[in-house]
Amino acid sequence: MGEENELTRALKEKDLAYLLHPLVPLGNHEANGPLVFLRGEGCWLYDSEGRDYVDATAGLWNCQLGHGRKDVARAVAEQMERLAYLTTFGGLASDTIIAWAEKLASHLPGDLTRVFPNVIGSEANETAFKIARTYHSLRGRQGKFKTVSHSRSYHGVSMGTVGATGLPDYWRRYLPLPGNNLHVPAPHCYRCPYGRSYPACDLLCADVLEQLIVAEDPDTISTFIAEPVMGGGGIVIAPGEYFPRVRQICDKYDVLYVDDEVITGFGRTGKWFALEHWGVVPDIVTMGKGMTAGYLPMFATAISQRIYRVLADANETLYQGFTYTGQPAIAAAALKVMQILDEERVVERAASTATLFARHLHSLLEYPWVGEVRNLGLLGGVEFVADRQTRAYFPAERRFGPTLLAALRRHGVITRVTKHEIMALCPPLTIGEADLAELFRRIRSAIEEVGGAVATS
Ligand SMILES: Cc1ncc(COP(=O)(O)O)c(C=O)c1O
Repeated sequence: MGEENELTRALKEKDLAYLLHPLVPLGNHEANGPLVFLRGEGCWLYDSEGRDYVDATAGLWNCQLGHGRKDVARAVAEQMERLAYLTTFGGLASDTIIAWAEKLASHLPGDLTRVFPNVIGSEANETAFKIARTYHSLRGRQGKFKTVSHSRSYHGVSMGTVGATGLPDYWRRYLPLPGNNLHVPAPHCYRCPYGRSYPACDLLCADVLEQLIVAEDPDTISTFIAEPVMGGGGIVIAPGEYFPRVRQICDKYDVLYVDDEVITGFGRTGKWFALEHWGVVPDIVTMGKGMTAGYLPMFATAISQRIYRVLADANETLYQGFTYTGQPAIAAAALKVMQILDEERVVERAASTATLFARHLHSLLEYPWVGEVRNLGLLGGVEFVADRQTRAYFPAERRFGPTLLAALRRHGVITRVTKHEIMALCPPLTIGEADLAELFRRIRSAIEEVGGAVATS
């Protein structure tokens, strides 16, 4: 790359002087500096050197509509001018938060039509855990306080959720954690921890979940939480009957099933909520990223009428909420985005774009370093391996993941490559055919460059 322009140099200098970044080794950041962006349009991002990049993970899996929607910006501005702030604490409500709740409830499965607004996804899951414990407690089952989740799952980094997250990098410095979190292996058939194959395995992974609940004592288990498609853990898609079996197990042991749709909701997988693919209705849904499409932060926790009645009949007060819970401007953004999803049939159109997306993804199997590709809707993963036969990981010293990520950036693709060398793809739902083709042309260039150099070194 050539000389940097003056603006880039000045911004880098100030970033390095003042900003503390997450999710990057700080020494590396000091050596490399930031990659600075000035604007976005649709699925494109433009850096301070004027170079273009495809936003291939839709921000952090949230920019469903891409960048530059003036109608969303206008809805927020109008709300700010009319009523800048109102809480939902103490029974207050703006007309906007009520319209938001009604709109969201119209898309939720089963009778999960009671929604609690949150500001971040971790908080949506904490709200779920707190409501679950309140529900058990009000029914005389105070001992049910533990959470079961998958290894490699991601449910947030707040102290109340980081233990449910099954990626130890996120909690190893913060031990001991509050709460009691148990993990079971994820239903990841490509790397089955039991060395079995589906369907001959008869879903041993679901049996293991049941065995764990029994061994721990069902009277101590409050919730089971899972992403329908694992995002941060590497786009893991469970086999056919796994989630229906999980539903039965939760019912059998009076464990509340929390469906974490934070990534998968709002059309990401071709349906409003991904668990619909398996015909399963959970007890609690947490969601958000796509709900405001990245324009402002808003999440939600939806509970079933059965849970709500236990709380309301006991005249319970929820001691949960934050300063910005139910803030009307963020609700206006969410309401507008959901209206756009409906009016422009974005979810249906994404389901059809997914066919083309899957074709592009599968074409990557021509490279010997691609072990498996997976997708549901416009959420896709490419798992790289050193040896396709044995499915062996690359030796750590080859730094395949970081090298690929750097090459992708050089070729104009912003995405994530997880620890397990899985490239995550999650473009805006509105991406068109030509941009999708361009994205995969760039990905291919990066893979060819890195595959040739690193895989054989
Ligand atoms: C599945 C899932 N749940 C929860 C969260 C937490 O959301 P937040 O980062 O807004 O706290 C995330 C964040 O990426 C997520 O992917």
